[in-house]
Amino acid sequence: MNMIPKTRIGQTDIDATRIALGLWPIAGMTSLEVNQADSLKTIHSALEHGVNFFDTAFCYGTDGESEHLLGQAIATCRDSVVVATKGGVHWATNGSRVNDASPSRLLFEFEESCRRLGTDFVDVLYLHSPDRVTNIERSAEFYVELKSQHRIRAVGLSNATLDETRRFHSVCPIDVLQPRYNMLQRDIETDLLPWCQKQGVSVAAYWPLMKGLLAGKIRRGHQFDPADKRLTYPVFQTPQWDRAQDLLDALEQIAMTLEISVAQLVIAWTLAQPGISVVLAGAKRPWQIEETIAGASVKLPVSIQSQINAALLENAIEQG
Ligand SMILES: NC(=O)c1ccc[n+]([C@@H]2O[C@H](COP(=O)([O-])OP(=O)(O)OC[C@H]3O[C@@H](n4cnc5c(N)ncnc54)[C@H](OP(=O)(O)O)[C@@H]3O)[C@@H](O)[C@H]2O)c1
Repeated sequence: MNMIPKTRIGQTDIDATRIALGLWPIAGMTSLEVNQADSLKTIHSALEHGVNFFDTAFCYGTDGESEHLLGQAIATCRDSVVVATKGGVHWATNGSRVNDASPSRLLFEFEESCRRLGTDFVDVLYLHSPDRVTNIERSAEFYVELKSQHRIRAVGLSNATLDETRRFHSVCPIDVLQPRYNMLQRDIETDLLPWCQKQGVSVAAYWPLMKGLLAGKIRRGHQFDPADKRLTYPVFQTPQWDRAQDLLDALEQIAMTLEISVAQLVIAWTLAQPGISVVLAGAKRPWQIEETIAGASVKLPVSIQSQINAALLENAIEQG
């Protein structure tokens, strides 16, 4: 087994693997054919293959299914894993998403997350999203308080603009940011990434595989299940879909020369980008995370990186 490279999270003493298992798919809210047995096997497989970093959230599942499953899987090894969860987003009784980053709601969700995870502390706690009503400085004060009580080891922020990030950071120093980032969606390269590099803030990128598209197995002519929610994303619709398929043609050729899969090439490229500390790779089956883990140990020669960058330039899609 290849050792997965690790990274230090922000200004903490946490050493996390550069590939984390993303636990949204096992929440079963958008991914199809999710079941508990395979979800647990997926977490165990990640552990067996050396992943120590797991990413979940209060709202992953209608009743915290993702946190419950993670808690169950790590019950005997809690101290050797890095548990990241998030608060500030929940589901209303009618199923709609509510962003509530008020300190009282954050406290309720944090205690509930700990209960589900079977732990009394969390390694990384993110604010899942600013809520546009609560002053972000008030949300940040809550994280200062939790950290001073040693209930969390690192502070994270997700889905925030550069301005919101700066404001949060001025009240509560951020250790790790969690923005969207993948080959097709690179908007953070112009603002958040350079800021994080300057401040020494780690970056854990979500959607590295663009929900499976960049794993290279969803190609032209793919018959989507009508219940597959991915169809609602522009990148799964014409014209972005066509550009993405052209890009995948090029990536397939490059991956073939290295005798690796497209998913592994994409993970390796993403981890090679300046400022990217960790990729959060989602999976609902063991083989999926096993394939992506192998990508974390691939070193891309400069000539290959240039070929990939040329293909990205040729097939760039509008950022958004
Ligand atoms: N902070 C936030 O707001 C936020 C938002 C989104 C995600 N996240 C975090 O980031 C993580 C990653 O995002 P994600 O899980 O939505 O998407 P992702 O990692 O880009 O893609 C995961 C999906 O790709 C497919 N896949 C994975 N490995 C594969 C392989 N080797 N071959 C073929 N298909 C493969 C699977 O889909 P199928 O099996 O269904 O095809 C899997 O569910 C999440 O799990 C979550 O922890 C955070």
